[in-house]
Amino acid sequence: VRSQSSSLAALETPCLLLDRGILERNIERMQERLRLGGVPLRPHVKTTKCVEIARLMTRGQPGGITVSTLAEAERFAAAGFRDVLYAVAMAPNKLEHAANLRSVGTALTLLIDNVQMARLAGEVATRRGIRFPVLIEIDVDGHRSGVLPAPEVLVPMAQAIHATPGLELRGLLTHAGSGYDCDSLKGIAEVAERERTIMVEAARTLRAAGLHCAEVSVGSTPTALTASSYAGVTEVRAGVFAFNDLMQTRLGVCTLDDIAISVLCTVIGHHAPQRRLIVDAGWTAVSQESQLHQGTRIYGRIGDARGRLIEDLALTLLNQEHGIVTRLSGCSIESAEFPVGTSLRILPVHACATAAAHDRYHVQRAGSDPMEVWPRFGGWTVPG
Ligand SMILES: Cc1ncc(COP(=O)(O)O)c(C=O)c1O
Repeated sequence: VRSQSSSLAALETPCLLLDRGILERNIERMQERLRLGGVPLRPHVKTTKCVEIARLMTRGQPGGITVSTLAEAERFAAAGFRDVLYAVAMAPNKLEHAANLRSVGTALTLLIDNVQMARLAGEVATRRGIRFPVLIEIDVDGHRSGVLPAPEVLVPMAQAIHATPGLELRGLLTHAGSGYDCDSLKGIAEVAERERTIMVEAARTLRAAGLHCAEVSVGSTPTALTASSYAGVTEVRAGVFAFNDLMQTRLGVCTLDDIAISVLCTVIGHHAPQRRLIVDAGWTAVSQESQLHQGTRIYGRIGDARGRLIEDLALTLLNQEHGIVTRLSGCSIESAEFPVGTSLRILPVHACATAAAHDRYHVQRAGSDPMEVWPRFGGWTVPG
């Protein structure tokens, strides 16, 4: 559901701006990269949580999406996305919700990494007269969850799923989150190649044991944008690339000009003794995500109302509804330079967290006014 919003100058702040030109360029860049690598994109829609954006992300792709909540699965299925991979390990209390989605024709694939969960999912599926497609989550780098790819661990796990009525073993999934810990593009590319080789070998192990392994699903934004090969991989999942943020900029996989979202805020005061500017966007609008920049902990970089970066300013402190902006050089900020009422933009450290604070995007294309409003949603269940 789209609607027209008023012009930028009339927006009540804080609110979330989305530059459609940058969004489309980011999506085309990822799609082109994967096209050259010969592998489809199954975009992760957890960052954006918006039907309009998911349509852009799946354009020219097989159409499958990755979600991080069953609420996303439900909302996107209602909007016509039928091939949905729920890429968080399953919990018993979510099985009926998942079964409901499966029962109405959504091809909802579950992620499982332990036999207890496999047994419970199989019991619900059998009772409900459905089958859950299942991927086994593999831990390739000790980053988070998943089973180790060692044959003595993986094969019994896969056999257990294969033998469970109501479950259909489809393959393997991993997310090499350690790419985020790298300090060079070469390092990220090495993580990507390690992810690929471990997964391809694990798939070979399953097939050699007579088990089905059609899917080899990998991905994150940094690894997808640096991998040298996708041989043996059947799909790449990435999500934050659509928006990008200061985290991706620090990793080196994008530039500040590639960040598609910003929080529009307004100067509400000055604090001369502490050389501070106060804006009406606190942690409720920006999130608490931070990073070190030139030795200072920052919660965002600052641009003017048109999005042009003001190099020396940064968001350095957050209260609930107040943001404190200072000069990285430590110099004072003259109130005449940024009078009360001045509009500024905050570039987010982590786009997923900042976007999660908002229920809509104010979408601009090349500075167009008025803008469209694209709704986004949050939560874990769909009301009603
Ligand atoms: C399982 C899984 N797949 C894919 C992604 C997408 O990675 P990114 O946010 O780097 O695009 C994530 C992100 O956390 C994830 O958890």
